[in-house]
Amino acid sequence: MKIIRFDPGARVLHWSHAILFLWLLLTGIHMFLTPKSLLGDPLIKMLHLYASIPFILIPGALYLFSHSIYMRNDIRELMSFKSYEMKWFFEFLKNTRVNTKFNPGQKVNFFVTLLLIIGLFLSGSVVWMKSLFSVDFVELNFMVHDFLAEISLLLISGHILLSLYHSESIRGIVYGKVEV
Ligand code: HEM
Ligand code: HEM
Repeated sequence: MKIIRFDPGARVLHWSHAILFLWLLLTGIHMFLTPKSLLGDPLIKMLHLYASIPFILIPGALYLFSHSIYMRNDIRELMSFKSYEMKWFFEFLKNTRVNTKFNPGQKVNFFVTLLLIIGLFLSGSVVWMKSLFSVDFVELNFMVHDFLAEISLLLISGHILLSLYHSESIRGIVYGKVEV
């Protein structure tokens, strides 16, 4: 029997955000690897900067204005971490089943992703508007932006590998329904 796991609102939120995130990651890596003495590639830099605007506005607008009850419930559940759920991490390799929609690992992934986005947005905005800040502060934010991008690369790689391993969950986030 098939049941709905993610409604269209939740799927649009996930994929619009994921595509822009991966785009920012790729253009960011390109800038990181371009020697600074050549002043980087201005087109890639522009594509990075202008993608950052929908990256923040689209999920914000979807959350505020979409009528998707699934999406709101999903976010509410992902934000509700109970202290007793810690024990799940010690039993991770045993593949313990949980009776909630998301397991504690997914909740931590959501929370860390949220913190990374806030950090990347704030540090990226300082670097973008560098004329408003001191040179030392801009330099510090550059380092923070790079560091958060490196953590993101690790987290996203883990997320993609785990979802490929659970192939039924890919069907859920692409088509909405999963087999139970
Ligand atoms: C090719 C890239 C991606 C694939 C294949 C993918 C796959 C998935 C799948 C299958 C789920 C649903 C898991 C379930 O059934 O509960 C999911 C959920 C989620 N995805 Fe992705 N995703 C990708 C990219 C991203 C990116 C770039 C981000 C964030 C920057 C992201 C953030 C999330 C979050 C926060 C959730 C809900 C919590 C969780 O399940 O960990 N995803 N993703
Ligand atoms: C959220 C909004 C974001 C804003 C406003 C932003 C802004 C910026 C700015 C202004 C730069 C410097 C361009 C330059 O002058 O060379 C930059 C570089 C970079 N960004 Fe972002 N960014 C954002 C999101 C992201 C995300 C999500 C990632 C990766 C996950 C990322 C990774 C990078 C990397 C790796 C660099 C290259 C740094 C270097 O050359 O050392 N950014 N970003």
